[in-house]
Amino acid sequence: MNVTVVGAGYVGLVTAACLAELGQRVVCVDHDQARVVLLQAGGVPIYEPGLDELVQRNQQAGRLRFTTSMALGVEHAEVLFIAVGTPPQEDGSADLQHVLAVARQVGRLLTHDLVVVNKSTVPVGTGEAVQRVIDEALRVRGCQGLACAVVSNPEFLKEGAAIEDFMRPDRIVIGVPPGPAGARARECLSQLYAPFNRHHERTVWMDVPSAELTKYAANAMLATRISFMNEMALLADRVGADIDAVRRGIGADQRIGHSFLYAGTGYGGSCFPKDTRALMHTAAAHGSPMRVVSAVEAVNRMQKRHLVGMVTQLMGEDLSGRRLAVWGLSFKPNTNDMREAPSRVVIQALLARGATVLAHDPVAGSEARRVLTEDMAAQPGLLQRLHLEESPEAVLLDADALLVLTEWKCFHSPDFARLRDLMREPLILDGRNLYDPALLQALGIAYLGIGRRNALGVARLALTAPMQAAAKALRAA
Ligand code: UDX
Repeated sequence: MNVTVVGAGYVGLVTAACLAELGQRVVCVDHDQARVVLLQAGGVPIYEPGLDELVQRNQQAGRLRFTTSMALGVEHAEVLFIAVGTPPQEDGSADLQHVLAVARQVGRLLTHDLVVVNKSTVPVGTGEAVQRVIDEALRVRGCQGLACAVVSNPEFLKEGAAIEDFMRPDRIVIGVPPGPAGARARECLSQLYAPFNRHHERTVWMDVPSAELTKYAANAMLATRISFMNEMALLADRVGADIDAVRRGIGADQRIGHSFLYAGTGYGGSCFPKDTRALMHTAAAHGSPMRVVSAVEAVNRMQKRHLVGMVTQLMGEDLSGRRLAVWGLSFKPNTNDMREAPSRVVIQALLARGATVLAHDPVAGSEARRVLTEDMAAQPGLLQRLHLEESPEAVLLDADALLVLTEWKCFHSPDFARLRDLMREPLILDGRNLYDPALLQALGIAYLGIGRRNALGVARLALTAPMQAAAKALRAA
Protein backbone atom coordinates (compact mmCIF):
# COMPACT_ATOMS: atom_id res chain seq x y z
CA MET A 1 0.00 0.00 0.00
CA ASN A 2 1.18 3.57 -0.63
CA VAL A 3 1.38 5.35 2.70
CA THR A 4 2.34 8.93 3.50
CA VAL A 5 3.24 10.05 6.98
CA VAL A 6 3.22 13.79 7.57
CA GLY A 7 5.60 14.71 10.39
CA ALA A 8 9.04 13.19 10.93
CA GLY A 9 8.98 13.73 14.67
CA TYR A 10 8.93 10.95 17.20
CA VAL A 11 5.57 9.40 16.35
CA GLY A 12 5.77 10.08 12.61
CA LEU A 13 9.22 8.61 12.22
CA VAL A 14 8.43 5.48 14.19
CA THR A 15 5.17 5.00 12.29
CA ALA A 16 6.83 5.56 8.91
CA ALA A 17 9.76 3.23 9.62
CA CYS A 18 7.59 0.47 11.07
CA LEU A 19 5.05 0.56 8.23
CA ALA A 20 7.92 0.40 5.74
CA GLU A 21 9.30 -2.56 7.66
CA LEU A 22 5.92 -4.24 7.20
CA GLY A 23 6.37 -3.86 3.45
CA GLN A 24 4.41 -0.68 2.68
CA ARG A 25 5.80 2.00 0.37
CA VAL A 26 6.17 4.96 2.68
CA VAL A 27 6.83 8.62 2.01
CA CYS A 28 7.52 10.71 5.10
CA VAL A 29 6.99 14.46 4.75
CA ASP A 30 8.36 17.14 7.05
CA HIS A 31 8.57 20.88 6.42
CA ASP A 32 11.88 21.10 8.32
CA GLN A 33 14.42 20.99 5.51
CA ALA A 34 17.43 20.30 7.77
CA ARG A 35 15.64 17.35 9.33
CA VAL A 36 14.75 15.89 5.95
CA VAL A 37 18.30 16.34 4.64
CA LEU A 38 19.63 14.53 7.70
CA LEU A 39 17.12 11.69 7.27
CA GLN A 40 17.86 11.38 3.56
CA ALA A 41 21.52 10.92 4.49
CA GLY A 42 20.61 8.08 6.86
CA GLY A 43 20.75 10.14 10.07
CA VAL A 44 18.02 10.01 12.71
CA PRO A 45 17.35 13.20 14.69
CA ILE A 46 15.98 11.50 17.81
CA TYR A 47 17.29 8.87 20.18
CA GLU A 48 15.16 5.73 20.12
CA PRO A 49 16.72 2.29 20.39
CA GLY A 50 16.68 0.46 17.04
CA LEU A 51 15.15 3.32 15.05
CA ASP A 52 18.23 4.35 13.06
CA GLU A 53 18.78 0.79 11.91
CA LEU A 54 15.12 0.46 10.87
CA VAL A 55 15.15 3.77 9.01
CA GLN A 56 18.39 2.98 7.19
CA ARG A 57 17.36 -0.55 6.23
CA ASN A 58 14.04 0.52 4.76
CA GLN A 59 15.56 3.52 3.01
CA GLN A 60 18.11 1.27 1.35
CA ALA A 61 15.35 -1.13 0.35
CA GLY A 62 13.54 1.80 -1.32
CA ARG A 63 10.46 1.44 0.87
CA LEU A 64 11.00 4.63 2.86
CA ARG A 65 11.59 8.09 1.42
CA PHE A 66 11.82 11.53 3.01
CA THR A 67 10.71 14.77 1.44
CA THR A 68 9.65 18.32 2.25
CA SER A 69 7.06 18.22 -0.54
CA MET A 70 3.45 17.87 0.57
CA ALA A 71 2.48 17.68 -3.12
CA LEU A 72 4.58 14.54 -3.48
CA GLY A 73 3.25 13.16 -0.22
CA VAL A 74 -0.42 13.66 -1.14
CA GLU A 75 0.07 12.37 -4.66
CA HIS A 76 1.73 9.21 -3.33
CA ALA A 77 -0.84 8.40 -0.65
CA GLU A 78 -3.64 5.90 -0.49
CA VAL A 79 -3.49 6.41 3.27
CA LEU A 80 -2.09 9.60 4.79
CA PHE A 81 -1.13 9.76 8.46
CA ILE A 82 -1.07 13.09 10.25
CA ALA A 83 1.62 12.86 12.93
CA VAL A 84 2.54 16.46 13.59
CA GLY A 85 2.98 18.14 16.97
CA THR A 86 0.10 19.36 19.12
CA PRO A 87 2.09 21.39 21.66
CA PRO A 88 0.36 22.74 24.74
CA GLN A 89 -0.76 26.35 24.73
CA GLU A 90 -0.48 28.48 27.82
CA ASP A 91 -3.95 27.49 29.06
CA GLY A 92 -3.10 23.77 28.72
CA SER A 93 -5.17 23.20 25.58
CA ALA A 94 -3.56 21.52 22.57
CA ASP A 95 -2.42 23.78 19.74
CA LEU A 96 -3.97 22.36 16.57
CA GLN A 97 -2.50 24.76 14.04
CA HIS A 98 -0.10 22.20 12.56
CA VAL A 99 -2.78 19.50 12.25
CA LEU A 100 -5.21 21.88 10.58
CA ALA A 101 -2.50 23.25 8.27
CA VAL A 102 -1.84 19.70 7.04
CA ALA A 103 -5.59 19.21 6.50
CA ARG A 104 -5.75 22.42 4.44
CA GLN A 105 -2.85 21.31 2.27
CA VAL A 106 -4.40 17.89 1.74
CA GLY A 107 -7.65 19.54 0.62
CA ARG A 108 -5.78 21.83 -1.75
CA LEU A 109 -3.64 19.11 -3.32
CA LEU A 110 -5.84 16.02 -3.42
CA THR A 111 -6.79 14.56 -6.79
CA HIS A 112 -7.86 11.03 -5.78
CA ASP A 113 -9.76 9.25 -2.98
CA LEU A 114 -7.84 9.13 0.29
CA VAL A 115 -8.01 7.89 3.87
CA VAL A 116 -6.60 10.44 6.32
CA VAL A 117 -5.51 8.99 9.64
CA ASN A 118 -5.04 11.24 12.63
CA LYS A 119 -2.19 9.92 14.79
CA SER A 120 -1.42 13.16 16.58
CA THR A 121 -2.90 13.37 20.07
CA VAL A 122 -5.81 15.71 19.57
CA PRO A 123 -8.80 16.80 21.63
CA VAL A 124 -12.16 15.25 20.97
CA GLY A 125 -13.76 16.90 17.97
CA THR A 126 -10.51 17.39 16.02
CA GLY A 127 -11.31 14.57 13.60
CA GLU A 128 -14.47 16.40 12.62
CA ALA A 129 -12.59 19.69 12.34
CA VAL A 130 -9.97 18.10 10.07
CA GLN A 131 -12.76 16.63 7.95
CA ARG A 132 -14.43 20.06 7.67
CA VAL A 133 -11.19 21.77 6.64
CA ILE A 134 -10.46 19.17 3.96
CA ASP A 135 -14.05 19.16 2.65
CA GLU A 136 -14.08 22.94 2.46
CA ALA A 137 -10.80 23.05 0.51
CA LEU A 138 -12.13 20.37 -1.86
CA ARG A 139 -15.39 22.31 -2.32
CA VAL A 140 -13.51 25.52 -3.18
CA ARG A 141 -11.68 23.55 -5.90
CA GLY A 142 -14.91 21.93 -7.08
CA CYS A 143 -13.58 18.50 -6.10
CA GLN A 144 -16.30 17.53 -3.61
CA GLY A 145 -16.76 14.24 -5.47
CA LEU A 146 -13.53 12.89 -4.01
CA ALA A 147 -13.95 10.57 -1.02
CA CYS A 148 -11.71 11.57 1.85
CA ALA A 149 -12.54 10.02 5.23
CA VAL A 150 -10.78 11.20 8.38
CA VAL A 151 -10.05 8.41 10.84
CA SER A 152 -8.66 8.56 14.38
CA ASN A 153 -5.90 6.08 15.23
CA PRO A 154 -4.13 7.27 18.39
CA GLU A 155 -0.65 6.00 19.20
CA PHE A 156 0.31 4.27 22.44
CA LEU A 157 4.07 4.27 21.96
CA LYS A 158 6.34 4.44 24.97
CA GLU A 159 9.60 6.25 24.39
CA GLY A 160 12.48 3.82 24.55
CA ALA A 161 10.19 0.96 23.51
CA ALA A 162 8.36 2.60 20.61
CA ILE A 163 9.29 0.09 17.92
CA GLU A 164 8.33 -2.84 20.09
CA ASP A 165 5.06 -1.09 21.01
CA PHE A 166 4.29 -0.46 17.33
CA MET A 167 5.20 -3.94 16.16
CA ARG A 168 3.55 -5.78 19.07
CA PRO A 169 0.59 -3.62 20.03
CA ASP A 170 -1.68 -4.56 22.93
CA ARG A 171 -4.46 -3.06 20.87
CA ILE A 172 -5.01 -0.84 17.87
CA VAL A 173 -7.70 1.75 18.46
CA ILE A 174 -9.39 3.03 15.32
CA GLY A 175 -12.30 5.44 15.16
CA VAL A 176 -14.05 5.66 11.79
CA PRO A 177 -16.72 8.10 10.67
CA PRO A 178 -20.19 6.83 9.70
CA GLY A 179 -21.22 6.27 6.08
CA PRO A 180 -19.66 4.69 3.02
CA ALA A 181 -16.42 6.70 3.22
CA GLY A 182 -15.97 5.42 6.80
CA ALA A 183 -16.63 1.84 5.69
CA ARG A 184 -14.04 2.20 2.97
CA ALA A 185 -11.55 3.63 5.47
CA ARG A 186 -12.19 0.66 7.76
CA GLU A 187 -11.51 -1.72 4.92
CA CYS A 188 -8.28 0.08 4.07
CA LEU A 189 -6.94 0.14 7.64
CA SER A 190 -7.91 -3.50 8.21
CA GLN A 191 -5.64 -4.32 5.33
CA LEU A 192 -2.83 -2.05 6.56
CA TYR A 193 -2.86 -3.50 10.08
CA ALA A 194 -3.59 -7.11 9.02
CA PRO A 195 -0.12 -8.34 10.12
CA PHE A 196 -1.00 -7.50 13.75
CA ASN A 197 -4.33 -9.28 13.70
CA ARG A 198 -3.20 -12.61 12.34
CA HIS A 199 -3.53 -14.63 15.56
CA HIS A 200 -6.20 -12.66 17.25
CA GLU A 201 -8.01 -9.46 16.50
CA ARG A 202 -6.30 -6.57 18.25
CA THR A 203 -8.19 -3.77 16.59
CA VAL A 204 -10.83 -2.05 18.67
CA TRP A 205 -13.18 -0.31 16.22
CA MET A 206 -15.22 2.66 17.34
CA ASP A 207 -16.42 6.09 16.30
CA VAL A 208 -14.00 8.99 15.93
CA PRO A 209 -14.75 10.96 19.17
CA SER A 210 -14.47 7.76 21.24
CA ALA A 211 -11.07 6.96 19.73
CA GLU A 212 -9.87 10.50 20.42
CA LEU A 213 -11.05 10.28 24.02
CA THR A 214 -9.56 6.78 24.46
CA LYS A 215 -6.05 8.18 24.04
CA TYR A 216 -6.55 10.79 26.76
CA ALA A 217 -8.34 8.35 29.03
CA ALA A 218 -5.50 5.82 28.75
CA ASN A 219 -2.81 8.35 29.61
CA ALA A 220 -4.88 9.90 32.40
CA MET A 221 -5.53 6.46 33.90
CA LEU A 222 -1.82 5.60 33.87
CA ALA A 223 -0.89 8.98 35.32
CA THR A 224 -3.53 8.42 38.01
CA ARG A 225 -1.94 5.14 39.04
CA ILE A 226 1.43 6.83 39.38
CA SER A 227 0.18 9.79 41.42
CA PHE A 228 -1.90 7.44 43.55
CA MET A 229 1.22 5.42 44.38
CA ASN A 230 3.29 8.54 44.96
CA GLU A 231 0.74 9.82 47.43
CA MET A 232 0.51 6.39 49.05
CA ALA A 233 4.32 6.44 49.37
CA LEU A 234 4.15 9.65 51.39
CA LEU A 235 1.75 7.95 53.74
CA ALA A 236 3.91 4.82 53.85
CA ASP A 237 6.78 6.98 55.07
CA ARG A 238 4.66 8.42 57.82
CA VAL A 239 3.23 5.15 59.06
CA GLY A 240 6.42 3.11 58.71
CA ALA A 241 5.30 0.98 55.75
CA ASP A 242 7.30 0.09 52.64
CA ILE A 243 5.62 1.21 49.40
CA ASP A 244 7.48 -1.45 47.46
CA ALA A 245 5.86 -4.18 49.51
CA VAL A 246 2.50 -2.46 49.10
CA ARG A 247 3.07 -2.29 45.35
CA ARG A 248 3.73 -6.02 45.15
CA GLY A 249 0.78 -6.71 47.37
CA ILE A 250 -1.76 -4.80 45.35
CA GLY A 251 -0.23 -5.57 41.94
CA ALA A 252 -0.81 -9.27 42.51
CA ASP A 253 -4.54 -8.60 42.38
CA GLN A 254 -5.33 -9.30 38.74
CA ARG A 255 -7.87 -6.54 38.72
CA ILE A 256 -5.08 -4.09 39.50
CA GLY A 257 -2.02 -5.62 37.80
CA HIS A 258 1.64 -4.78 38.33
CA SER A 259 2.40 -2.06 35.82
CA PHE A 260 2.56 1.68 36.44
CA LEU A 261 2.55 1.29 40.20
CA TYR A 262 6.09 2.48 40.81
CA ALA A 263 6.42 5.41 43.17
CA GLY A 264 9.18 7.78 42.13
CA THR A 265 10.05 11.37 41.42
CA GLY A 266 6.87 12.08 39.49
CA TYR A 267 5.95 11.43 35.88
CA GLY A 268 7.38 13.50 33.04
CA GLY A 269 7.73 13.18 29.29
CA SER A 270 5.86 14.51 26.34
CA CYS A 271 2.54 12.78 27.00
CA PHE A 272 1.28 12.42 30.56
CA PRO A 273 1.78 16.03 31.69
CA LYS A 274 0.55 17.50 28.41
CA ASP A 275 -2.36 15.13 27.92
CA THR A 276 -3.70 15.35 31.46
CA ARG A 277 -3.73 19.15 31.18
CA ALA A 278 -5.35 19.05 27.75
CA LEU A 279 -7.99 16.65 29.05
CA MET A 280 -8.76 18.95 31.96
CA HIS A 281 -9.09 21.81 29.50
CA THR A 282 -11.48 19.90 27.24
CA ALA A 283 -13.50 18.76 30.24
CA ALA A 284 -13.77 22.26 31.66
CA ALA A 285 -14.76 23.62 28.26
CA HIS A 286 -17.62 21.10 28.21
CA GLY A 287 -18.70 21.92 31.75
CA SER A 288 -17.60 18.53 33.07
CA PRO A 289 -14.54 19.18 35.27
CA MET A 290 -12.11 16.30 35.88
CA ARG A 291 -11.55 16.41 39.61
CA VAL A 292 -9.54 13.20 39.79
CA VAL A 293 -7.21 14.16 36.95
CA SER A 294 -6.70 17.59 38.40
CA ALA A 295 -5.62 16.02 41.73
CA VAL A 296 -3.31 13.67 39.80
CA GLU A 297 -1.65 16.69 38.24
CA ALA A 298 -1.28 18.52 41.54
CA VAL A 299 0.22 15.47 43.27
CA ASN A 300 2.70 15.10 40.42
CA ARG A 301 3.81 18.71 40.66
CA MET A 302 4.55 18.20 44.36
CA GLN A 303 6.22 14.86 43.81
CA LYS A 304 8.82 16.39 41.55
CA ARG A 305 9.95 18.45 44.55
CA HIS A 306 9.90 15.58 47.01
CA LEU A 307 13.61 14.79 46.87
CA VAL A 308 14.46 18.47 47.26
CA GLY A 309 12.37 18.42 50.44
CA MET A 310 14.35 15.44 51.70
CA VAL A 311 17.64 17.21 51.02
CA THR A 312 16.58 20.37 52.85
CA GLN A 313 15.22 18.35 55.74
CA LEU A 314 18.62 16.75 56.09
CA MET A 315 20.88 19.66 55.26
CA GLY A 316 18.81 22.78 55.89
CA GLU A 317 17.44 25.33 53.42
CA ASP A 318 20.86 26.83 52.72
CA LEU A 319 22.82 24.35 50.63
CA SER A 320 25.85 26.56 50.01
CA GLY A 321 29.01 24.51 50.10
CA ARG A 322 27.11 21.24 49.53
CA ARG A 323 28.11 19.03 46.62
CA LEU A 324 25.17 17.01 45.39
CA ALA A 325 25.53 14.23 42.84
CA VAL A 326 22.72 13.35 40.42
CA TRP A 327 22.39 10.14 38.43
CA GLY A 328 19.91 10.36 35.56
CA LEU A 329 18.53 13.42 33.79
CA SER A 330 16.11 12.20 31.10
CA PHE A 331 12.48 11.77 32.20
CA LYS A 332 12.94 8.00 31.95
CA PRO A 333 15.60 5.54 30.74
CA ASN A 334 16.42 4.77 27.10
CA THR A 335 15.68 8.23 25.86
CA ASN A 336 17.40 11.60 25.83
CA ASP A 337 14.04 13.32 26.19
CA MET A 338 14.12 16.02 28.85
CA ARG A 339 10.54 17.21 28.43
CA GLU A 340 8.96 17.69 31.85
CA ALA A 341 11.79 15.64 33.38
CA PRO A 342 11.79 15.77 37.20
CA SER A 343 15.57 16.40 37.05
CA ARG A 344 14.86 19.91 35.75
CA VAL A 345 12.85 20.83 38.82
CA VAL A 346 15.23 19.13 41.24
CA ILE A 347 18.45 20.55 39.83
CA GLN A 348 17.15 24.09 39.56
CA ALA A 349 15.84 23.99 43.14
CA LEU A 350 19.15 22.66 44.50
CA LEU A 351 21.18 25.26 42.61
CA ALA A 352 18.84 28.01 43.77
CA ARG A 353 19.59 27.01 47.37
CA GLY A 354 23.30 27.37 46.79
CA ALA A 355 24.37 23.76 46.15
CA THR A 356 26.93 22.64 43.63
CA VAL A 357 25.34 19.93 41.47
CA LEU A 358 27.33 17.30 39.59
CA ALA A 359 25.15 15.31 37.24
CA HIS A 360 25.55 12.37 34.91
CA ASP A 361 23.25 10.75 32.36
CA PRO A 362 24.44 8.06 29.94
CA VAL A 363 22.62 9.63 26.97
CA ALA A 364 20.84 12.88 27.80
CA GLY A 365 23.86 15.01 28.81
CA SER A 366 23.90 17.42 25.87
CA GLU A 367 20.11 17.69 25.67
CA ALA A 368 20.09 18.36 29.41
CA ARG A 369 22.66 21.11 29.02
CA ARG A 370 20.53 22.78 26.35
CA VAL A 371 17.29 22.51 28.31
CA LEU A 372 18.71 23.51 31.70
CA THR A 373 20.44 26.51 30.12
CA GLU A 374 17.05 27.58 28.78
CA ASP A 375 15.32 26.94 32.12
CA MET A 376 17.81 29.10 33.97
CA ALA A 377 18.28 31.77 31.32
CA ALA A 378 17.11 34.39 33.82
CA GLN A 379 19.61 33.21 36.49
CA PRO A 380 22.78 32.37 34.54
CA GLY A 381 24.79 32.45 37.79
CA LEU A 382 23.15 29.21 38.89
CA LEU A 383 24.52 27.33 35.91
CA GLN A 384 28.07 27.97 37.02
CA ARG A 385 27.50 25.55 39.89
CA LEU A 386 26.13 22.81 37.59
CA HIS A 387 28.66 20.33 36.22
CA LEU A 388 27.56 17.71 33.73
CA GLU A 389 30.02 14.84 33.87
CA GLU A 390 30.77 12.02 31.46
CA SER A 391 30.98 9.24 34.02
CA PRO A 392 28.78 8.22 36.95
CA GLU A 393 31.82 8.02 39.22
CA ALA A 394 33.02 11.53 38.44
CA VAL A 395 29.97 13.06 40.11
CA LEU A 396 30.48 11.13 43.33
CA LEU A 397 33.81 12.60 44.37
CA ASP A 398 33.34 14.36 47.72
CA ALA A 399 29.57 14.45 47.26
CA ASP A 400 27.33 14.97 50.30
CA ALA A 401 24.54 12.92 48.76
CA LEU A 402 23.68 11.06 45.58
CA LEU A 403 20.21 11.62 44.10
CA VAL A 404 19.05 8.92 41.69
CA LEU A 405 16.49 10.44 39.33
CA THR A 406 16.27 8.06 36.35
CA GLU A 407 16.40 4.27 36.51
CA TRP A 408 18.93 3.69 33.71
CA LYS A 409 20.17 0.07 33.73
CA CYS A 410 23.73 1.23 34.40
CA PHE A 411 22.65 2.61 37.80
CA HIS A 412 20.96 -0.59 38.96
CA SER A 413 23.92 -2.29 40.61
CA PRO A 414 26.79 0.10 41.10
CA ASP A 415 29.99 -0.71 42.96
CA PHE A 416 28.71 0.42 46.35
CA ALA A 417 32.08 0.10 48.09
CA ARG A 418 33.64 2.43 45.54
CA LEU A 419 30.71 4.80 45.84
CA ARG A 420 31.11 4.88 49.61
CA ASP A 421 34.81 5.65 49.29
CA LEU A 422 34.34 8.43 46.79
CA MET A 423 31.56 10.30 48.58
CA ARG A 424 32.16 12.70 51.45
CA GLU A 425 29.14 11.25 53.22
CA PRO A 426 27.72 8.06 51.74
CA LEU A 427 24.06 8.96 51.45
CA ILE A 428 21.75 7.90 48.63
CA LEU A 429 18.41 9.55 47.98
CA ASP A 430 16.87 6.99 45.68
CA GLY A 431 14.13 8.64 43.63
CA ARG A 432 13.42 5.38 41.79
CA ASN A 433 13.58 2.85 44.61
CA LEU A 434 16.32 0.93 42.83
CA TYR A 435 18.24 -0.30 45.84
CA ASP A 436 17.70 -2.63 48.74
CA PRO A 437 17.68 -0.54 51.92
CA ALA A 438 18.93 -3.45 54.06
CA LEU A 439 21.89 -4.09 51.75
CA LEU A 440 22.93 -0.46 51.80
CA GLN A 441 22.59 -0.29 55.53
CA ALA A 442 24.86 -3.32 55.81
CA LEU A 443 27.37 -1.57 53.58
CA GLY A 444 27.34 1.54 55.74
CA ILE A 445 25.55 3.72 53.22
CA ALA A 446 22.69 5.89 54.44
CA TYR A 447 19.65 5.41 52.27
CA LEU A 448 16.37 7.15 51.65
CA GLY A 449 13.93 5.87 49.08
CA ILE A 450 10.44 6.99 48.17
CA GLY A 451 8.03 5.61 50.75
CA ARG A 452 10.49 3.04 52.08
CA ARG A 453 9.96 3.26 55.80
CA ASN A 454 13.47 4.46 56.71
CA ALA A 455 12.63 7.91 55.40
CA LEU A 456 10.63 8.46 58.54
CA GLY A 457 13.59 7.73 60.78
CA VAL A 458 15.91 10.03 58.88
CA ALA A 459 13.42 12.83 58.71
CA ARG A 460 13.00 12.66 62.46
CA LEU A 461 16.75 12.56 63.03
CA ALA A 462 17.30 15.43 60.68
CA LEU A 463 15.01 17.63 62.69
CA THR A 464 17.20 17.33 65.73
CA ALA A 465 20.67 16.66 64.42
CA PRO A 466 22.94 18.11 61.77
CA MET A 467 23.04 16.13 58.57
CA GLN A 468 26.27 14.22 59.17
CA ALA A 469 25.11 12.99 62.53
CA ALA A 470 21.81 12.00 60.96
CA ALA A 471 23.50 10.00 58.26
CA LYS A 472 25.81 8.33 60.77
CA ALA A 473 22.94 7.49 63.07
CA LEU A 474 21.04 5.99 60.20
CA ARG A 475 23.98 3.82 59.18
CA ALA A 476 24.43 2.64 62.73
CA ALA A 477 20.72 1.91 63.19
C1 UDX B 1 3.40 7.34 27.66
C2 UDX B 1 2.41 6.18 27.45
O1 UDX B 1 2.87 5.05 28.19
C3 UDX B 1 2.23 5.87 25.99
O2 UDX B 1 1.29 4.85 25.81
C4 UDX B 1 1.74 7.16 25.33
O3 UDX B 1 1.42 7.01 24.01
C5 UDX B 1 2.77 8.24 25.52
O4 UDX B 1 2.95 8.46 26.92
P1 UDX B 1 6.04 7.68 27.69
O5 UDX B 1 5.75 9.11 28.02
O6 UDX B 1 7.04 7.39 26.64
O7 UDX B 1 4.69 6.93 27.24
O8 UDX B 1 6.58 6.99 29.02
P2 UDX B 1 6.06 5.95 30.10
O9 UDX B 1 6.95 4.78 30.10
O10 UDX B 1 4.63 5.71 30.00
O11 UDX B 1 6.37 6.78 31.45
C6 UDX B 1 5.81 8.06 31.67
C7 UDX B 1 6.30 8.64 32.97
O12 UDX B 1 5.76 7.95 34.08
C8 UDX B 1 7.81 8.59 33.16
O13 UDX B 1 8.23 9.81 33.72
C9 UDX B 1 8.03 7.46 34.12
O14 UDX B 1 9.19 7.60 34.90
C10 UDX B 1 6.78 7.58 34.99
N1 UDX B 1 6.38 6.32 35.63
C11 UDX B 1 5.98 5.28 34.88
C12 UDX B 1 6.38 6.24 37.02
O15 UDX B 1 6.75 7.18 37.72
N2 UDX B 1 5.96 5.07 37.60
C13 UDX B 1 5.54 4.01 36.87
O16 UDX B 1 5.16 3.01 37.50
C14 UDX B 1 5.55 4.10 35.49
